[in-house]
Amino acid sequence: MNRRILFYIVLELLISLAVVSSITEDSENFVQSRKTRDALEEPTSKVNYTGNQIWKTKLINDQHKKVIMSLRNQGLIQTWGGNRTSLDILVNPINLNEVADTLRNNDILYNIIIDNLQQAIEDENPPITHDNEDRQGHRMTWNSYHRTSDIWGFIDYLAQTFPDFCKVFTIGQTHEKRDIKVLKISNGKVGNKAVWIDGGMHAREWISPAVVTYIINQLVYNLDNEPDYMQNIDYYIAPVMNPDGYEYSHTIDRIWRKNRRPNDPTLSGFKLCYGTDLNRNFGYKWGLGGTSKDPCDVTYGGTRPFSELESKAMKEFIQGTAANWKAYISFHSYGQYILYPWGYASAVTTDYKDLQNVAHKAGAAIRAAGGPTYTIGPAASTLYPAAGGSDDWAKGVVRMKYSYTIELRDDGRYGFVLPASYIQVTSKEALAAVRVIVEAASQA
Ligand code: ARG
Ligand code: ZN
Repeated sequence: MNRRILFYIVLELLISLAVVSSITEDSENFVQSRKTRDALEEPTSKVNYTGNQIWKTKLINDQHKKVIMSLRNQGLIQTWGGNRTSLDILVNPINLNEVADTLRNNDILYNIIIDNLQQAIEDENPPITHDNEDRQGHRMTWNSYHRTSDIWGFIDYLAQTFPDFCKVFTIGQTHEKRDIKVLKISNGKVGNKAVWIDGGMHAREWISPAVVTYIINQLVYNLDNEPDYMQNIDYYIAPVMNPDGYEYSHTIDRIWRKNRRPNDPTLSGFKLCYGTDLNRNFGYKWGLGGTSKDPCDVTYGGTRPFSELESKAMKEFIQGTAANWKAYISFHSYGQYILYPWGYASAVTTDYKDLQNVAHKAGAAIRAAGGPTYTIGPAASTLYPAAGGSDDWAKGVVRMKYSYTIELRDDGRYGFVLPASYIQVTSKEALAAVRVIVEAASQA
């Protein structure tokens, strides 16, 4: 056998193999590069959003909405906040021209509200100064966004310091084995009505846990200065309902929304995708409109109602606690809305007038506290239909009369990356709204 010929044959083979594999790799890169981040493989270090932009688009007819959905399905954009006539979209730098052309060709007006998302992320959250801990026995400030450990440390500290008044319940654990905690604040009077408040169901909505912890702080340290109806209530407050997602949004991907449990890859063409949208996973009219069956989508509703540890823990705690539930408040961002049921479809409850009245009073209280105008209405017709929300479940199943989702600031200038300097103003107006809802609960 001629070893030299054999050598060349093998060499040839190796070269052709290398060429073929580089072509497939390239075309894969090409496909991937057109995709936005969510569809890519799991990043292991912090995602960098340099050059990503946020555009506010005006969508005034169904054709416009179709165009946007098609851009999203092609992975050219991600959708952020919006309502029936406008939608904020995230555009990857490599897709800027293509998306701009498509919008122009379809007469969709838009303007750029964030021209470099990475810069906005870096400006959002100043470092925490820890001298606070020595003064107060905990690390919370309302000048920065804090990690879950600071928040749990804060409520544990309150329970230790005021054992007659505050109690922490660990209602479950997440997939990544983090605790899910609820703080009960109560003066112990028999006959108190009960109010549930939660935050942080969506990971990237950082203003929500910040506002909810501010409310906790006010209730613990300043309740004496609050009206009687505020004092005689049992509060159950869960500031971080999605700790895995919240931590992930701090460490890896600032704009992550869902929880972090890996999904069954056979449900998505053998692609491994993480997370369920907890606010599509509750068991009232689960799986109807505005929710996705694709585990890779940001609004994936899970395999069944309460398939997720977080929503299941909340359900079991609420239903397993002998409390006289009268109100449910879930804090989200952004858009400045006070929403009441139903969210699953454009319909209202038989007592919606009561909810509407209270919402309007809450809106007025927000303005009186120096805040902006919050848009008020039933969730599905005011914002968009989305089934499996916690508010619908609280109303439809638990029968908490005053059930609200409050979308905090802002109106899209910063969107999810609201600078920490807005925490206190946003908290003050949210607290004004909570007072109004609690007063209604106390009389219900
Ligand atoms: N932005 C919230 C979400 O998408 C709104 C929820 C309103 N409530 C509802 N049941 N759809 O989860
Ligand atoms: Zn949300």
